Amino acid sequence: MAGRIPQQFIDELIARADIVEVINARVPLKKAGREFRACCPFHDEKTPSFWVSPTKQFFHCFGCGAHGTALGFLMQYEQLPFPEAVEELAGRLGMEVPHEAGTTPLPAQHEALHEMLARVAGFYEESLRSSERASAYLRGRGLDAATIERFRIGYAPDAWNEVLRRFGATEASCQHLLDTGLIVARDTPRPGSEAWYDRFRDRVMFPIRDPRGRMLGFGGRILDRGEPKYLNSPETELFHKGRELYGLHEVRLSRIKLERLLVVEGYMDVVRLHQAGIQYAVATLGTATTPEHLRQVFKLVSEVVFAFDGDRAGRAAAWRALQNVLPEARAGREVRFLFLPDGEDPDSLVGREGRAAFEQRIAQAMPLSEYFLAHLAETVDLSHADGQARYIALARPLLARLAPGVYRELLIERLAEKVGLHSERLRQLLEEPGSAPARSDHAASVPRSARPAAPRIGRGGLITQAIQTLLHFPTAARAVPESLLAQLAGLDQPGLPVLRELLGELRSQTGSSSTAAILERWRERPESARLYELARVEILIEDEQDAAHELIQALQRMTGLDLQQQRLAELTGKQGDLTAEEKLEIQSLMSALRTSKGRPISKSS
Ligand code: UTP
Ligand code: MN
Repeated sequence: MAGRIPQQFIDELIARADIVEVINARVPLKKAGREFRACCPFHDEKTPSFWVSPTKQFFHCFGCGAHGTALGFLMQYEQLPFPEAVEELAGRLGMEVPHEAGTTPLPAQHEALHEMLARVAGFYEESLRSSERASAYLRGRGLDAATIERFRIGYAPDAWNEVLRRFGATEASCQHLLDTGLIVARDTPRPGSEAWYDRFRDRVMFPIRDPRGRMLGFGGRILDRGEPKYLNSPETELFHKGRELYGLHEVRLSRIKLERLLVVEGYMDVVRLHQAGIQYAVATLGTATTPEHLRQVFKLVSEVVFAFDGDRAGRAAAWRALQNVLPEARAGREVRFLFLPDGEDPDSLVGREGRAAFEQRIAQAMPLSEYFLAHLAETVDLSHADGQARYIALARPLLARLAPGVYRELLIERLAEKVGLHSERLRQLLEEPGSAPARSDHAASVPRSARPAAPRIGRGGLITQAIQTLLHFPTAARAVPESLLAQLAGLDQPGLPVLRELLGELRSQTGSSSTAAILERWRERPESARLYELARVEILIEDEQDAAHELIQALQRMTGLDLQQQRLAELTGKQGDLTAEEKLEIQSLMSALRTSKGRPISKSS
C-alpha cells in the first residue's frame, strides 16, 4: 500500500480545486443566486434539488441527502476510493500527490509491478486465443467472447517457465515477477535449471484489478478436476485479499447508475452475473467479507446484498459476514442476505433462470435485522425463560458491535418483541451482567475497542453555534485570544472536544482554510455528517469580522467570562461609595479579566 497522503496536501488540493468546475464537467449546472443547481445525479428526479455552493465548496442534495466536497463528489460519481479520487483531482490540477514514507515501496515501484502484471495478463489473453482446449472450457461454462474480453480472462499455458522466459530476462524484471507472485523460487535449486518456476500453469486466468483498472494479481482455475481448484496470487505489496473486491473495475466500466452492490463468493459468479446483465456484482477473493471491504462498498452505495450458497458452508459464511457488517450497519444503509437454493451458486442459477428471475430473488433478500433475529432464534427455544435468557446472552456481544444510534435502538426493539419483553426491560438486561455498572448510554456493556465514538455535537446552544460559525468562517478561529482557549480547556461538556479540536486545527493552519477543507479533514470521523448539516444551514453572519465577534462571544459565554464582565460593569457604574468588599471584588474581577482581554466583550462596548 502506498503511504498515507499528507493532510496538508489534501487541504491544498481542496483549496485549489473548484467544485463548480469539477461537477459542471460531469453534470451541467445552472446558476441560481449565489449557488448552482442541477437535477441530482445520485437519484431520479424531475425538479432540481442538487445544490453546489462555490463559497463553501461543497454540494448537497435536498432530495436524497447526498453531500460532499469536490473529492466526495468524485468518489460518489466516478465510484472511486478516496486515494484514487485524490489522484484524479490532483491530476487535473497538475499537482503531484505526495505519499508519506511508510514501510511500503514508492508508487514508482508499484507502477513497474502493475505494468509487469498487465504485460503478463496480455500474454495470458493471447495464449487463450491459441488454446482450443481452454477456449472450449470457457465456452462450456457459458462465457461469450465479449465477456472474456471485458474481464480480460486468459490462459496460463501448461509449462514451467513460459512467463519466466518471456518476461524475466533481466535481474530487475525477474525481481518484478517475484514481487508480483508470478514466479516462485524453487526450494532446492537443481543444477542446470532455473532457480524459479511459473506459479500458474495450465489454468484459466482471471486478472484481479483495482477499481481504476490497475492489475493487482490473478486467480487461476484448473481446467479439469484437481487441487487447488483456484490458485490465487499471494499477498504482495499490491495485492491484499482482505481489501480487494473482484469485479469492481468492471462495475465501473459498465457505467450503470449504481444503486447497490451484490457481493458473491466466486470469480465465475461475478463474470456470469455481469454477462447476464447484473453488472453490480463483485466477489470477495476466497476470504470472509472484511470490515475493509465494507468500508469500500459503503463509500460507493448505501445498499448491499450478500449472496451465499444454500449449503452449510454458505450459511456459515453468511453468518460470518453478518458479524463483520454489524459495525458498519446504521440507519440509511441497507444490508440484505440472499440465500440460494442448496446446490446452486449465482453462476449456475443466473445461467438457468436468467436476469429477471435472479433479480426477483435479490428483491426478496432478507434484511440484516431479520436474519440476525432469525438466526439466533434457530438455536434456542423462546418459549421458556431459560431460552429467552440464552437468546439475550447470544445477542449481547453482537449488539455491542453496533454503533450506538437509531439502528441499534430499532434492533433492540425488534429483539424485545421477539422475546416478549418491554424494550426498556431488555435494555436493562442487556446492560446488567457486565461487570461495570449499567449506564444509560449502554456504554458499559460495550467493550471499548468495539465501540465507535458516538457523534457528540450538541443540537443547539453555544457550542453548536460556535462550531457553526467556524464552519462558515474558518479564519475566525485565529481571532480567539489564547487566554480564552485556556479557559475553554478547563471545561467539560458534550461537543466541547470537537470545538476545541476544530479551533486547534484552524489556528495552527498557515495556509487558507475553507469549509470544504474542514469537512475533508473530518471525513472519516463519526461527527462528519453532523458537521455537514451545520455547514449547510445558512447563518446570518455577513463577514469575517462579525464571525470572529460572534465566535468570541459564544466562547466567553461558555466560560462564564461575560458574567464577570457584566458584574464588573455593574460595580464600576455604581453611584456613590463602594464598600470594601465591592472594591476587593472589582480588583479580583479585573485581574481575572486582564488575562482574557484583547477583544471587546460585546460589539457595543
Ligand atoms: P467455489 O468453490 O464456490 O467455486 O469457490 P466457484 O466460484 O463456484 O467456481 P467454479 O464455478 O467451480 O469455477 C468460491 C471462491 O472461493 C475461492 C475463489 O475465489 C472462488 O471463486 N477459492 C475456491 C479459492 O481461492 N481456492 C479454491 O481452491 C477454491
Ligand atoms: Mn460455481
